[in-house]
This record gives sequence, structure tokens and C-alpha cells, in this order.
Amino acid sequence: MSVWESLKSRQSALTDRPLLALFEEENRADDFAIETADMRFDYAKTNIDRDTRAELIKLAEDAGVEQKRDAMFAGVEINETEGRAVLHTALRNLDGGPVILDGKDVMPGILDTLSAMRSFATKIRQSHITDVVNIGIGGSDLGPAMATAALSPYHDGPRCHFVSNVDGAQIADTLRVLDAKHTLVIVASKTFTTIETMTNARTARAWMADNGGDPKAQFAALSTAEDKTADFGIDPGQVFGFEDWVGGRYSVWGPIGLSLMIAIGPKGFDAFLRGAQAMDTHFRAAKTLENIPMMLALVGIWHNQICGHATRAVLPYDQRLAQLPAYLQQLEMESNGKSVQIDGSDVTHNTGPVVWGAAGTNGQHAFYQLIHQGTRVIPCEFMVAANGHEADLHHHHHLLIANCFAQSEALMRGRSLIEATKIMAAKGLTGDELDRQARHRVFPGNRPSTTLTYPLLDPYTLGQIIALYEHRVFVEGVILGINSYDQWGVELGKELATSLQPVVEGIEPATHKDGSTAKLVDYVLRHRS
Ligand code: F6P
Repeated sequence: MSVWESLKSRQSALTDRPLLALFEEENRADDFAIETADMRFDYAKTNIDRDTRAELIKLAEDAGVEQKRDAMFAGVEINETEGRAVLHTALRNLDGGPVILDGKDVMPGILDTLSAMRSFATKIRQSHITDVVNIGIGGSDLGPAMATAALSPYHDGPRCHFVSNVDGAQIADTLRVLDAKHTLVIVASKTFTTIETMTNARTARAWMADNGGDPKAQFAALSTAEDKTADFGIDPGQVFGFEDWVGGRYSVWGPIGLSLMIAIGPKGFDAFLRGAQAMDTHFRAAKTLENIPMMLALVGIWHNQICGHATRAVLPYDQRLAQLPAYLQQLEMESNGKSVQIDGSDVTHNTGPVVWGAAGTNGQHAFYQLIHQGTRVIPCEFMVAANGHEADLHHHHHLLIANCFAQSEALMRGRSLIEATKIMAAKGLTGDELDRQARHRVFPGNRPSTTLTYPLLDPYTLGQIIALYEHRVFVEGVILGINSYDQWGVELGKELATSLQPVVEGIEPATHKDGSTAKLVDYVLRHRS
């Protein structure tokens, strides 16, 4: 029997075992948690026991995760379908050694760009610029937007705004309240061809020129395509380049993070990089059992591929991390939403789960009902800091933590029919009405979750958390045998949008389109005012 088969047979035998019973195993709370100097990752509230864990670890060994991890850090071309290395880790290798790619150390170039970013950010922070607009989409937006919101207590520079959608509503709403003379526009695009970004960038340039700003001085670009930034008219002194071995969704650590650096300052950005670098060191050095990205990934494999739970909820108890689920959606789903293995054969297991979530406690008043009493099991990933930033609002933070821990406890513990009946009887119900009402108040329990806790959400810790999730995606991808670093699945829609544009504009007929699409176009054209 293969390890996969053994895990699957184990899973069916374990389905009805109460999670709480697992705590009868000696020392489970500590044995199924990893605590480093910077955080504690608890996976004790999952249905993984020691034997299951040993088999999950075997799965990682059989897939060669450690060897592939070392290959990634060493610059091997692991993104085989695009013929590229995967070296976003070099962007935060602040005091690591050389990273050799094609016989050349990439570190001097990275450190030069970082130093140019620091000088530019410092100049902007000391200038008349009050607002920065980052125009980008996907990885050129989600990372800096999420991190900038997450670190608002550390903002001491200009305000940052993020425009991504080609829907003119977003750029219109953003620019309407800004003063063009005091605004810096950053065009963030790895390829500098993305239609949404280029459309928004042209709109912003026209707005600036029409409103007394100076696009030549007040535009910067972040891209691998420096020729295209020149064609757009951006001053080469305000272009920050990076290489194609930095994937879009892994790019917040370099020039794509410029808006964050302007918001929190170069020192804060350094701390962010150092946090990520610390997680890299941990990922490379710690044994699997003590390795947080490894174990987070193996818990993910257990829930998704073995137990068949198709989604996972990411639930940060931190309002400033409200954009983290969207960030992780791209990181995980664009990376591991694949159907073909690296060798071109079909995958033999389901691949990436649907990732979703929202900040607690808001989610509790929206979708937690389904998580507690719905028919599907949704593994939850909670996270919360031991401290908030609001010195005079400790009681808020205590409530926040209590709610976070209460949710994982409730999911695990549940409430039996006997308990529910007692509660309702105490309220005076009897007979059929008591039975009926009690049934609605039963919680099945036994629902798995993990919890990540850390002292404070500062730049260093945020860097660690993001790098942790990056490495988790890597480990899951290796075990599934897929390439986590390409994204061919986004191409077809882009091609069809290009062919539909003249049809929607009424320039070309919709005759070559299917009936449904042709009728939708027809409706729009008939109702266009
Ligand atoms: O949607 C596909 C994608 O290529 C993402 O992978 C990427 O982050 C995003 O578009 C933006 O791309 P670019 O930075 O080249 O504009």
C-alpha cells in the first residue's frame, strides 16, 4: 500500500473520532505545536495523531521536499514551464551569502536596487508629496496593498492608495480626492503589458497633466521590462527593475514593495525583509517536525487531499489583516490550482483548495454559522497577536483574543443533543417543542483548525507570516508534483477579452461568438446610453 493509500484508509477510520479525545495522548498540546522565538503554530485541534503525522512526513520525504527546497534556494530552474529559477528568497537575503545564477551572483544587483529604492523612498517622504497611488493588479497590487494596510501603525510617510481594477470606478474614486500636484503615481507591472494596469496608468497620466501635476517627475515604474517603461515616458531614474525569476505573487519583497517602503520607511521595510529572511532560515534548517511551513503544508494536505475538504478558511483576528485572505487566494490558488504534473501527466490527487476568509470578529457575524453547523467541514486557520497596537484599548484586544480562541474551541468541542436539551429545558421548554428546539442548538463539533499566535503584528512578524505561507505553498506543490510558479490558467480569459473588446465596442459583429455570449453583447449594445 502506498503512503497516500495508507493515509486515505487511516482517514476513514478516524472520521468519527472526537478531537477532544486526542488530548488524552500525553503532551498533545505541546507535541502538536511548534513554538519558535517569534511565533507559536498550534495544530493540536486537528484529527492528526502521531502515526498519521509520521505518514504525512513520509509523504514529504518521498516527494523530495527538502532536496527541492534546497534546489529552489540554489537557483535551480524549478519553474520548468517558463524556464526560470524561483528566487524571490534572494530579495530578502540581506546578510546571506552569494546566490549564483548562470555563474553570476545576483545579490549585488538586488542590493543596488534596494539601495536605490531606499534613496527614492526617503526623497519622496521628505518632499511635497502627500499621496502615493500604486497602479498594479494581482501580485503587483495584492502584496503591497495588504502589507501597507497591515502595518498602518508604522506609517509615517505619505498616504498610499491602490488602484487595480480596470473598472473606471476605482481610479475615478481614488483620484477624485487627490491633488495632482502632490501625488506620486507608481506603475507596478512585472510585464508592463497588463491591460488593466496600462489602462489605469494612461488615465492617471492624463489626470495629472490636466490638473497641474508633472507626469515626468511624478511617475515611477516597477517592472522587469525597462524598455517598455521608457516607451511609456517614465524617467529611467525612477524605474526600479527586477528579474523574471521573481514571480508576480512573490514580488512584494523587491521593487513591487516600494509603496510599502514609502509608507513605513526604509527601516521598517528592512525589518519586513528580515522577518521573511528569518522564516527562510527556519524553513531551511528546522527538522520537519519543528518546521512551521512544512507542518502547515502537511496539515493542508491532510485536510484537502486526504480528508477531501475542498476549501480552507483563513481567519486573521486583526482588522488590519482584512486583505490577507485575498492575498493568500492569489498566492495559493494561482500557484497550486493546477491539473497537470510537471512531467505533463494528469495529477493523481485534487490540487489546491479554495482559499477564502475574512477578519475576525466580523466573519463570526457573517459566515461562521455555516462553519459551525453547515454540512461541510471547513478547516480553519486562525491567527492573532498577543498584543494590539492601541495602548488605551487593551480591553478590545482581550475580547478579540477571547473570541479567536473561543471559535477554535467551539469548533472542536461542539455541543451534544443532551447538552442542548438541558439548556433548553432550563429555559422552560418541554415535550416535542423541547426536542425540536434542542436539535437546532446542536453543534457537531470535531471541526479542525490551526492557530498561529505571535507577540505583535509588526513589520518583522508580517514578513515572517507571508514567507511562511509562501513556503507552505511550495511544500504542497512539491508533494502534488505540480509547478507552483507558472499561471497558464489566466491566459485564455485574457485572449478572449482582447477578441471581445471590438465586439463590445460595436466595431465588430459577434457572429463568431457562441449564442449566449452574442446575446449578452446584444443586450449591452441595446442598453448602452
Ligand atoms: O493574472 C495573471 C498575472 O500574470 C499575475 O500572475 C500577476 O501577478 C498579474 O497578472 C499582474 O501582472 P503584471 O505584474 O505583469 O502586470
